[in-house]
Amino acid sequence: MIEQLEVLKSTVTALPNERDAILFTGDLQGRATRPSDRLPGRLLGELLAEELKVLASHGAIPALDRIGVVLVGDLYARPEMDKRGGTGDVRSVWKAFANCCRWVVGVAGNHDMFGPNFLEAHVKALSQQPHIHLLDGQAVNVDSLKVAGLSGIVGNPRRPFRRTEADFTSVVKRLSDDEPDLLLMHDGPDVPGYNFKGWTSVRQALEVSKPTVVVRGHAYWRNPLFALRNNTQVLNVDSRAILAVRATDG
Ligand SMILES: [Fe+2]
Repeated sequence: MIEQLEVLKSTVTALPNERDAILFTGDLQGRATRPSDRLPGRLLGELLAEELKVLASHGAIPALDRIGVVLVGDLYARPEMDKRGGTGDVRSVWKAFANCCRWVVGVAGNHDMFGPNFLEAHVKALSQQPHIHLLDGQAVNVDSLKVAGLSGIVGNPRRPFRRTEADFTSVVKRLSDDEPDLLLMHDGPDVPGYNFKGWTSVRQALEVSKPTVVVRGHAYWRNPLFALRNNTQVLNVDSRAILAVRATDG
């Protein structure tokens, strides 16, 4: 199946001075179909990193050393591309962004591996690479941004990157109580009244916390941005790439 990645560019005023832009993306479950790519084609995230280089070289976006990248998981696609998704090694995508941009911070999706299997040691090894911050229940400072993250989804905790609903919600509450600037998660809150999938318990945990910006994936929403009752903004980047560019004065 051939699909297109929706790439949006938006202007914001609240980026710290160190950066001119942040790229937010997730659920890039595709591969290249360009004839120049030998099968199996490179993962869609690797192509997106290449595309950033082209756009920056033309001046269409800020220089790459002034762009931070936020990944919210599920970056793999089966080599056969006979159906969407599949579970596999996504290190090449993280490294592609880390090699060209200022930093990469993010969480794992339920389909992501960071080596030939789900070993914790592989996750640790990637997290120790320069400019890479893979989060699962903790926070990190990148430039002057405090970013917290929770990998995986609500599910059977005996499987990798899954927590019970109560556990997932309590980690969300703990992380949001620490007042991060960005709170990343793969699974996440629902939106009442819109039938946009997610967890009511996670939304309620966020709504009793200080306002923040939540970035999530895992479930496609037609509208990418919603405000919760406490003014927390929820940005859903499932199958999207959104480049938030700092507004220039005047
Ligand atoms: Fe997922």
